[in-house]
Amino acid sequence: MQAKVVIVGSINMDLVTRAPRLPRAGETLAGYSFVTVPGGKGANQAVAAARLGASVAMIGCVGDDDYGDRLRAALLVEGIDCDAIISVAGESTGVALIVVDDNSQNAIVIVAGGNGHVSSAVVDSFDALLSQAKVIICQLEVPMATVGHVLKRGRELGKIVILNPAPVSAPLPADWYALIDYLIPNESEATLLTGLPVDSVTTAEVAMGALLASGASKIIVTLGAQGVLFATRTHVQHFPAPQVRAVDTTAAGDTFVGGFAAALAQGKSESEAIQFGQFAAALSVTRAGAQPSIPTLGDVQEFQS
Ligand code: RIB
Repeated sequence: MQAKVVIVGSINMDLVTRAPRLPRAGETLAGYSFVTVPGGKGANQAVAAARLGASVAMIGCVGDDDYGDRLRAALLVEGIDCDAIISVAGESTGVALIVVDDNSQNAIVIVAGGNGHVSSAVVDSFDALLSQAKVIICQLEVPMATVGHVLKRGRELGKIVILNPAPVSAPLPADWYALIDYLIPNESEATLLTGLPVDSVTTAEVAMGALLASGASKIIVTLGAQGVLFATRTHVQHFPAPQVRAVDTTAAGDTFVGGFAAALAQGKSESEAIQFGQFAAALSVTRAGAQPSIPTLGDVQEFQS
């Protein structure tokens, strides 16, 4: 089966603690619980796209350790093509240290490990996968040079190219914007990309204007419970969020991106794909953890009906 959605990105083991609140600098806080959960923005988006109906392949790297084996197995169970996931000898698998507080907010520290080995050469060795894709997705937990390379190749091949600029610490290289079909930041990422405050539909629209002026063509800012804002050079549309009770927002953005991509790969319109991604993300926040929280197609169809 040819993969319609190809993800080039990170694969992490998430080390997750629940605590009453996020710790302050220098503070030691007692947590309630600790679990290890499959995660990584790239892998989460791959799992979301697969559970939500797409045929998916992932290009990435893990270490030659137990976490790497467990994470590969978790992706295989989802029916994801893992032939382009390399185990790097002598390297550790990427990890994310996550604290989730009583308000279901999180703070995350990542250590790249194997993700740092996802080079342009690795991607080139799996060019056949990119060639057969309909949608290609990148995030920023693998080297920036590799992401730029994939965006360029995706554009050359005429694919639908999605960049979820997460995590981001500075504006993107200016020449990337012309290579991306859909730029999907959250509020804080939109702020970091533009230097403008983004915490509402109104402020998101201003920041999206700046991104459009920088050369972006289609932007979707995810605003959590405030929904998403979609903007092109000629059109702005707000999509309110389905109302749910959140217990953990980890991987909500990844679920949106994977669901959006899966719907586009199946020929849905942009509006349909955005709404589908929103329902999937809304369900994900009602459950704990990254990959365990991602709903199936059946879950979303039931929720939407
Ligand atoms: O987006 C959530 C993900 O961010 C977590 O699964 C963690 O691995 C970090 O990459």
